[in-house]
Amino acid sequence: MSQQSGTPESPSPDAISSILVENRVFRPAPAASLGFTKWHIGSIEEYKALHAYSVDDPENFWREEAQNLAWFRPFDTVLEWHAPDAKWFVGGQTNACYNCVDRHVQAGHGDQTALIWEGEPLGPRTSHPVEGSRYAAEPEVKSLTYRDLQIATSKAANALKALGVKKGDVVTIYMPMVPELAVAILACTRIGAAHSVIFGGFAAHAISERVMDAHSRVIITADGGYRRGDVVPLLKNVEEALDQLTNQGHIVNHVLTLRRTAHEPPSKRFRTGEKRGATVLHWWHDAVDTASDACPCEPMDSEDMLFLLYTSGSTGKPKGIQHTTAGFLVHAQMTARLAFNLMPDAGQVFWCSADIGWVTGHTYVLYGILMNRVPTLMYEGAPNFPAIEGRPGAGDRFWDIIARHRVTQFYTAPTAIRTFMKWGDDLPARHDLSSLRVLGTVGEPINPEAWIWYHTHIGRTRCPIVDTYWQTETGGHVCTPLPRAIPTKPGSCTLPMLGIDAAVVNERGEEMPPNKGGLFCIRKPWPGMLRGVYGNRERFVSNYWGRLKDPKTGMPWYFSADGSRRDQDGYFWVMGRVDDVIKVSGHLLGTMEVESALVSHPAVAEAAVVGVPHEIKGNAICAFVSLKTHWLKAHKREPDAALRAELTAHVAHEVGALAKPDQIRFADGLPKTRSGKIMRRLLRDVANGVEKITQDTTTLEDFSVVAKLRESDEE
Ligand code: WTA
Repeated sequence: MSQQSGTPESPSPDAISSILVENRVFRPAPAASLGFTKWHIGSIEEYKALHAYSVDDPENFWREEAQNLAWFRPFDTVLEWHAPDAKWFVGGQTNACYNCVDRHVQAGHGDQTALIWEGEPLGPRTSHPVEGSRYAAEPEVKSLTYRDLQIATSKAANALKALGVKKGDVVTIYMPMVPELAVAILACTRIGAAHSVIFGGFAAHAISERVMDAHSRVIITADGGYRRGDVVPLLKNVEEALDQLTNQGHIVNHVLTLRRTAHEPPSKRFRTGEKRGATVLHWWHDAVDTASDACPCEPMDSEDMLFLLYTSGSTGKPKGIQHTTAGFLVHAQMTARLAFNLMPDAGQVFWCSADIGWVTGHTYVLYGILMNRVPTLMYEGAPNFPAIEGRPGAGDRFWDIIARHRVTQFYTAPTAIRTFMKWGDDLPARHDLSSLRVLGTVGEPINPEAWIWYHTHIGRTRCPIVDTYWQTETGGHVCTPLPRAIPTKPGSCTLPMLGIDAAVVNERGEEMPPNKGGLFCIRKPWPGMLRGVYGNRERFVSNYWGRLKDPKTGMPWYFSADGSRRDQDGYFWVMGRVDDVIKVSGHLLGTMEVESALVSHPAVAEAAVVGVPHEIKGNAICAFVSLKTHWLKAHKREPDAALRAELTAHVAHEVGALAKPDQIRFADGLPKTRSGKIMRRLLRDVANGVEKITQDTTTLEDFSVVAKLRESDEE
């Protein structure tokens, strides 16, 4: 797929290679050779014994794990399970911000670094120059200690209180990757408000939809964010969302805005206290910087809501996945510690390149890492800013960051790795990556070629790779190698996390024999599991608990919507979603969301969206669109490139640039079964070029013939 063949020239010394690519097994080097003093779990035997204990006696296992949190009040009961409703650590009280920040200050670690942040722009904004950069101008870097975070979150919490935010309210956060984003999130938890973070790549409609669903009355945003040298106009998107919300009768009381880019001329800026419709606008520097820095952490019941995070479903609106306090924290703390072998006071610097707008950023930029008292690195921008001279689009910023900050654990997505492969092996080769000890991947299945490249060119064949499989709904890892303990196979997320009773089963709940594909399920509750879909009980029950059950007891099992197989060693190989959601560049998108955006354009009668494999993005979006002929006539338009561009821009405006179709194919009508269901499988085949329907498909595709041929096997 690129200049690079993908096969390591000289495999790792302890790699056991066999003739079959899928059978390559990698055993990591001993702790000392990687710079660790020890491993939390040091052998496969130890893992197996612990895993068996954790699923045979979950209550005792999780009771012991929960001792890693600081509790205001100890819990009485580990678990109350009335499937599908779980209550974990009942009777206990704790607080997320306290566990991430205050407890470390109180234990005497207030001066340790909690968060290292690097901004995207280079040059005059620099506050703390760093050594060893190849850039002529230094990037802006900030480092916050636990005490800094305690002060900052207290001030922000008091500012939120002054805006009327109370325990139990949902605060919407739509910000760039700046330290204030971490502060805003933790400030909410400090006072017991739940946060609902919306990824900065989403557009106005996606914001208003989520704000409305969450009944959120306060939004925290920024004027803009930097991305690949451009400014993303966040406040403008929020203002557009406010108009949509007002039209629908939902009032947002306050918008708190950080000044990050100052790209608007002063004439366009507002003054704190000014109103837009019924909404009062505030600048962060007026409201937060002047607030008191004393604000105790609110004691929260274990099952009080910690956050909502919206994720795409196969039908209708995005789902507000609900996580609660203690269970999520226990799961995040444990999985972060074990999968990355996190240890405080051991010179570690952890970097997860995910945006905090996705669950990976929630659990493994913030909560899981801060609780383990390991510095977490946040980078604001793109990997290809600045671009390499003479090689437009390519960049080595990530490797530069790893080298300058001496990152020890690095966690990224397969789509990013495939992009780096394309940019060339020489880019990482220019940098000193010797600080790295563990590499992680997440978000979609990683193809062995990308795994080997990551292992060879980033891990320099030394570092174990943890391919972590999980979901927004699971809160944290559910299947992952543990470095040192679990030998890895490129493309497999290997074995279940402690406490996770994972299986691959058929529709009747029977376990599949080795190497036979089936449905990925979890048979016992775990603390990090979702507690609901906000405001939609039916969707919670039917999406996750309605399909699989224990054939013996009839007890519902959790279904992840992923297909998977287990090999002869019990290793899981996730094959991808079995529902109508697609992963594009690691971002989950419902085909419905893109389809609804398309049909909201006046030219479109019907739309169907399918995913097609894409060598960098994992999947690309292919949209089949049938047009309103009367509209075309009335507006003197043709189904041409200009209309395609217009529809693409329309989707970007409605959902966000991440949802732009890669291909738009016009069709006379969409192929449907007799019962009126769109024949997606046929469309997928057509999009993949399996089915040649007409000799010439330059403009309109005619599905009538193939549709008839295929009708019987679709129904
Ligand atoms: C996919 C991201 C294979 C899977 C944390 C899942 C993966 C969806 C992996 C959840 C992996 C995530 N191997 N597939 N290591 N990690 N997935 O909610 O299809 O954005 O259902 O959470 O990503 O995506 P989400």
